[in-house]
Amino acid sequence: TRLAASEITGQDGKAGIIEKYFSLSQTDTTCLKDIGLYPEEMRVGDDILCLHTLSDVEDLPGKVGTDCRFEKLSTDRSDCRLSFAAPVGVLLSCNHVYNQFIFIDDHAENLKNFEQTARNMQSLSRYSRANQVNKEWIDEYLNEAHSKGLISVRCHCNVMAWSDDRDELKRIRNDVGSQLALMECKPRHNTVDTPTLFWAGIPGNEADFPAEESFYTFLGQALCLFVEETNYKSSLSPFGIKMVDRVSGRPLHIDISDLPMKKGITTNRNKFILGPSGSGKSFFTNHMVRQYYEQGAHVLLVDTGNSYLGLSQLIHNRTHGEDGIYFTYTNENPIAFNPFYVEDGVFDIEKKESIKTLILTLWKRDDEAPKRSEEVALSNAVSAYIDLIGKDSSVTPCFNTFYEFVRDDYRRQLEQKNVREKDFDIDNFLNVLEPYYRGGEYDYLLNSDKELDLLHKRFIVFELDNIKDHKILFPVTTIIIMEAFINKMRKLKGIRKLILIEEAWKAIASANMADYIKYLYKTVRKYFGEAIVVTQEVEDIISSPIVKESIINNSDCKILLDQRKYLNKFDSIHNLLGLTDKERSQILSINMANHPGRKYKEVFFSLGGTQSAVYATEVSLEEYYTYTTEESEKMELFALAEKLDGNLELAIKRLAESKRNPQSSTT
Ligand SMILES: Nc1ncnc2c1ncn2[C@@H]1O[C@H](COP(=O)(O)OP(=O)(O)O)[C@@H](O)[C@H]1O
Ligand SMILES: [Mg+2]
Repeated sequence: TRLAASEITGQDGKAGIIEKYFSLSQTDTTCLKDIGLYPEEMRVGDDILCLHTLSDVEDLPGKVGTDCRFEKLSTDRSDCRLSFAAPVGVLLSCNHVYNQFIFIDDHAENLKNFEQTARNMQSLSRYSRANQVNKEWIDEYLNEAHSKGLISVRCHCNVMAWSDDRDELKRIRNDVGSQLALMECKPRHNTVDTPTLFWAGIPGNEADFPAEESFYTFLGQALCLFVEETNYKSSLSPFGIKMVDRVSGRPLHIDISDLPMKKGITTNRNKFILGPSGSGKSFFTNHMVRQYYEQGAHVLLVDTGNSYLGLSQLIHNRTHGEDGIYFTYTNENPIAFNPFYVEDGVFDIEKKESIKTLILTLWKRDDEAPKRSEEVALSNAVSAYIDLIGKDSSVTPCFNTFYEFVRDDYRRQLEQKNVREKDFDIDNFLNVLEPYYRGGEYDYLLNSDKELDLLHKRFIVFELDNIKDHKILFPVTTIIIMEAFINKMRKLKGIRKLILIEEAWKAIASANMADYIKYLYKTVRKYFGEAIVVTQEVEDIISSPIVKESIINNSDCKILLDQRKYLNKFDSIHNLLGLTDKERSQILSINMANHPGRKYKEVFFSLGGTQSAVYATEVSLEEYYTYTTEESEKMELFALAEKLDGNLELAIKRLAESKRNPQSSTT
């Protein structure tokens, strides 16, 4: 695309490409510097330039291609293709400009000149063997041009790198040289022409290019020397999370929620996160939800592995106990709810629907689909009960009074209406639900008189590890939590909210729940919400059509971590998620060539199946100790916090400091 004038010359507060070039800077606030042209070197401000040129056919490789395989990020099952000149593009890690020139002169004129030269060479070939060789070379060029109809062009490329430090400059010079050698080019360090080529490289100033620096080739070959990759850039969106550029380690701001929606790349903000155990799912989600929280979102997490204890407690301390609410299930203090309680007394259709789903789940087994007549009867019962509590304030809304209502009043109503037993077996219903009624085994679960204020808390964790294998408590608790979230959605207009469910989705992935999950996913979209499901079990997603349809198909953002443990299952993941070949190569390249000196893990993002990229999660030591799930590290941290009167923040700071400077620490 053609640059607009303002992009070339810049505007107030936004530097144009020319200003950026003159100041060798990418920032929008450029400051023009002195440009020094000395016989031995060229300088821009304090920076000394180091120039390598490709201006002679002799220096070029025997063969060029449009792209080539990048071994470091390829596997025997995947191919990472980069452009031929990538070694001097994104793979060259120092600050640099890669200038690429193609001059499309008058093609016919070019060839005519060559023919003339060839004739001259022919007549001179008696005097020198070199002339003979040149003549042959030209003949070959002309042959190619004529027989294949190729366009003759002139080409030149150069790599302009710089540094204000002479030692570093030496290293950079070597680096550029070896990158050029990787492309099988002969590295030519050029000092003499630096000012001229710098000048010609000013965007729009190609006319000043010194013709003798170019070589003849064909358009196709010249284009092979173009670099097609760019560095990842930060999103302009005000909302997003910090990730890191995998190649350079530069921090980047990326938006995987709002901007893609606005641009129509995605139609929802839901996310599906997949990675084997230990691949960094929880670490990444901690990092993500923390940043969502800090940008004002409501965050509700359902976990089964204590992965959010650190972050939750940190927020708890920071807010003096106001937020960062952590619920765990213990026998002495079980999580209890009251599905019939609403703050404002208004039961809308969605609330009724979720009460119905909840009771249906308690009543029917996974593999037992309710009859239409049963659903109708239940729906009527819920509506009638809601009418009753609206009219009669002596009835306390809770499961107990609902049960009594069905047992007495509703039974009479059914009898009057002559509803047959096979359409709605009320005795069976009451019998199955008895455990949740007063005196039953789970009577606490749905009859809480405490009003859980989830509405105004912005960071809530439900830790369900203790009941994750419980056939009743786990699914019921999960549904009630989801229902609490739906309530939040309806009440908190214009506020971002997310629910993240780790592994717990398994409990709700029964046939009964399919519609409910679908419903949750759709509703979330309308209310500025995100539903995020995190899982490690490929088998589960492969075997469950419900998960596939309701969760995967309704999550436009797919996030995958290191899949190498699943290499033999990767084909099914590939098919299940409908990945493209490019996405496959990106996923299999995760953590393949990580920088040995840095501690991070890579993460793959795909948005709407059309945009994908790999970023790194690289954090400070303080963040590391907040997010880590390593048992020993967690224990060390919490033990230290205890010594510091429960001050987790201080403990994190101390611990991080002691790892940074092992000598200076005395604790
Ligand atoms: N981005 C990262 N940077 C540094 N260490 C990480 C990163 N991601 C994960 N880890 C390390 O790996 C461990 C396991 O990560 P975790 O997120 O708990 O895996 P998962 O949830 O996928 O099982 C963490 O405790 C941490 O030590
Ligand atoms: Mg985890």
